[in-house]
Amino acid sequence: MTVKQRLEGKVAIVTGGASGIGAESVKLFAQNGASVVIADVQDELGHQLAASLAPHQVSYHHCDVRDEKQVEQTIAFAVDKYGRLDVMFSNAGIGGSIAGILDLDLSAFDNTMAVNVRGVAATIKHAARAMVAGNIRGSIICTASAAASVAGCTAHDYTTSKHAVVGLVRSTCSELGAYGIRVNCVSPYAIATPLACEGFNKEADEIEGIANSLANMKGISLKPTHIAEAALFFASDDSVYISGHDLVVDGGFSVVKRFIP
Ligand SMILES: NC(=O)c1ccc[n+]([C@@H]2O[C@H](COP(=O)([O-])OP(=O)(O)OC[C@H]3O[C@@H](n4cnc5c(N)ncnc54)[C@H](O)[C@@H]3O)[C@@H](O)[C@H]2O)c1
Repeated sequence: MTVKQRLEGKVAIVTGGASGIGAESVKLFAQNGASVVIADVQDELGHQLAASLAPHQVSYHHCDVRDEKQVEQTIAFAVDKYGRLDVMFSNAGIGGSIAGILDLDLSAFDNTMAVNVRGVAATIKHAARAMVAGNIRGSIICTASAAASVAGCTAHDYTTSKHAVVGLVRSTCSELGAYGIRVNCVSPYAIATPLACEGFNKEADEIEGIANSLANMKGISLKPTHIAEAALFFASDDSVYISGHDLVVDGGFSVVKRFIP
């Protein structure tokens, strides 16, 4: 079966691209014709993924999003190698500390903010610079979370950071529309990736079981590929007039509170 090439000729960077949602997005973007740079701190996984896909089309570049210089260098690498930057999927994130507010470790809080918020700000800044310099009507996509819409699902630092991501998306979309650059986010419900398993100290099948039991949408488990499909929509010209949007992919979880069972 031939896959419709929705990103033909486009160049994308996926942060957090070595694992989970990012890795599925790298595959889907490449299948859809994009040249893709995987940006992550897991060098071995990132190189393996790049090597398993078309080597001329997918590369790995080490990038700790907490370090602005590394973000700038990763974008320069993509532009040098593939000639332009059309899509930035700013997806790298960490789960945060599950301690309650009474025992909050503020250095852990700062680190969550450094990855999940400051890192996203750095990627938007440098991606937008490359797009403006290249006169490219690009698409910037960030990964927020259903935890940006409802509280009580996970850690305070994580919940706070994802609310901030939605704020950053809205705020930067207000400036970048003048250049034809779109900024959106995808907000997943729980998925059994390493982030969730390590964060809650549970096996993947346990995480999936808990997620399914609490989900509004029954008969299906949310997988990284479902989020990759949402990111593909934003990356492609199918969403050409959509900006400042938070696409919540949670099967209705964040808008439903059952009263009558
Ligand atoms: N899994 C879930 O339940 C869930 C739900 C909502 C949102 N999210 C968000 O989805 C995104 C992707 O997470 P995932 O679930 O695929 O988890 P994952 O652990 O599979 O992937 C996260 C990736 O980010 C990378 N990363 C971490 N810190 C980094 C840094 N400083 N610089 C560069 N890369 C870094 C990791 O190495 C990893 O490859 C995150 O932003 C996460 O907050 C996940």
